[in-house]
Order: sequence, then C-alpha cells, then structure tokens
Amino acid sequence: MTYITVNRISKKFKRRDQITEALRDVGIEIEQGTFVSLIGPSGCGKSTLLRIIGGLETADDGDIRVGGVTPIEAQSDKQFGFVPQAPALFPWRTVIENMRLPFEVNRKGGRQTPEQSEEAKELLRSVGLGEFLDAYPKELSGGMQQRVGIVRAFASGAPILLMDEPFSALDEITREMIRYQLVEIWEKHKKTVVFVTHSIREAVFLSDKIVVMSNRPGRISEIVDVDLPRPRSHELEETSEYQRYVHHIKGLLRERWEQ
Ligand SMILES: Nc1ncnc2c1ncn2[C@@H]1O[C@H](COP(=O)(O)OP(=O)(O)OP(=O)(O)O)[C@@H](O)[C@H]1O
Ligand SMILES: [Mg+2]
Repeated sequence: MTYITVNRISKKFKRRDQITEALRDVGIEIEQGTFVSLIGPSGCGKSTLLRIIGGLETADDGDIRVGGVTPIEAQSDKQFGFVPQAPALFPWRTVIENMRLPFEVNRKGGRQTPEQSEEAKELLRSVGLGEFLDAYPKELSGGMQQRVGIVRAFASGAPILLMDEPFSALDEITREMIRYQLVEIWEKHKKTVVFVTHSIREAVFLSDKIVVMSNRPGRISEIVDVDLPRPRSHELEETSEYQRYVHHIKGLLRERWEQ
C-alpha cells in the first residue's frame, strides 16, 4: 500500500535577490513499512525533500500525502520520528531518560507505558547499550550516542522515521557496525523509513528502494528497486548481486556529475 506520495513537487529558496532552485518536479511513492534511501550529490536537495515530507518545510508546487493527509497534519498526528546527523540528546538526562523524551514532547504530560519502557530497554540492549541505561551522553562515545538516537526513534511510537545522514559523523568501522544493527532492528519493526545518505554501499545494503537524485536543481535520475533477500547481514556485501547494484548506482551518479 502506498503510504507516502510525493507528486511533482518543486522548491525554490530566495535569499536577497538570489534564487536557488532546490527541487524540480520530484515524484516518489513510498510503500508502508519499506526502507527508502535518497542519494545524490551535495546540494541536490535531499535534506530539503526530507524536510518537506516531514512537514518542516513547504513545497512551492506539487502535492504530498502521508497516509492520505498533508505532512503538517501527519506531523501533528505524531507520525514522524526524526534522526538528525548528530544525536540530539539532552546532556543532563541519562540514556534511559533521553529515551522518554519523544513521549513527553509529543504528548503534553505524556509518559511511557511500562510496555514502552520495557521496549526502550530491549532496543538499547539490542544495540549493545544494556549496561549504559543510567549513563549520561558525555560518558558515551559518538557512535554510542548515535545508537541511542536511532533506537529512540524506533521506540517513539512514530510509524515513519526520517533520517538525515545519521551516520555521517562516525568513523568507517563504527558506521558499518551500526548499519548492521539498524538493518536488524528495522527488519523486526518494519517502520517506514526515509534515509538520506552519501554512501552507495549503505543505501544498497539497507534499502528496498533507492531514489537517485541529480545535481541541483534536484530531480530524480532513477528509482532503483533493490531486490536483494532479507534478512540481510554482512555476507550480502560479498555477493555479486549486491556489487551489481552498487556499480549501477555509482554509474548513475557519475553520469550526472559529468553532465
Ligand atoms: N533554508 C534555506 N535557505 C536558502 N537556501 C537553502 C535553504 N535550505 C537549503 N537551501 C539550498 O537548497 C539547496 C539544497 O540544499 P539541501 O540541504 O537540501 O541539499 P542536500 O542534498 O541535503 O546536500 P548535502 O548532501 O550537502 O547535505 C542548496 O543549494 C542549499 O543552499
Ligand atoms: Mg543534507
């Protein structure tokens, strides 16, 4: 079932007398419970598109529906969980207290139920943070903090997760490990995810669908359905099928770069 429909949207930014055309005529259909990545050169409008889907920015033209309503309505209905580039954790709260944040922010006077609190702990254990429930963010490494941010989004109750390069501040090995943990969590919870990345390998490994975008103004070069088996683990990356997808997407991005 199509859950998010992006229909021919365009967006220009005006700064003094300069106009930047960020997106032109972009259309995507996202099925419920699928993992979709946005990839493309820097400045091609990936973050803008993500923000428009999440109701944080509006398009100039075109139409977006999220479960039949507008992004702004979906946002006020708590449909979205955001995972930014750097983990947005409150330094004065412990890990487990930070996990409660979406419930308190989203619903005035809201609280986690005992089941939700148990699920939050289970998610933290699944990414190796079971021993750190009472630790403060400054006592964790960058990668550990980012894991808290990711599992918090899964625990937040929001059916759609919007992730904007959540691994970009991490070193390569940590980034790989978190990618494997994310795929495991996602395969269990099957939320609808829109994920922005610059990493082709990451996009192929994680996604059901990859939206390849061109240089500014961001347009869609191709939408690639990734027909690789699940569950996915690191062995997949050794297969020729996986390599073929990586090669194909690299070709698309290179083609656009050369134009
Ligand atoms: N609030 C804004 N005001 C003016 N221009 C903006 C604004 N936000 C984005 N832009 C412009 O729109 C274009 C697309 O920006 P966007 O951040 O969406 O790109 P991106 O694909 O996410 O890039 P990156 O990969 O570097 O994060 C850029 O040229 C940027 O300068
Ligand atoms: Mg961006």
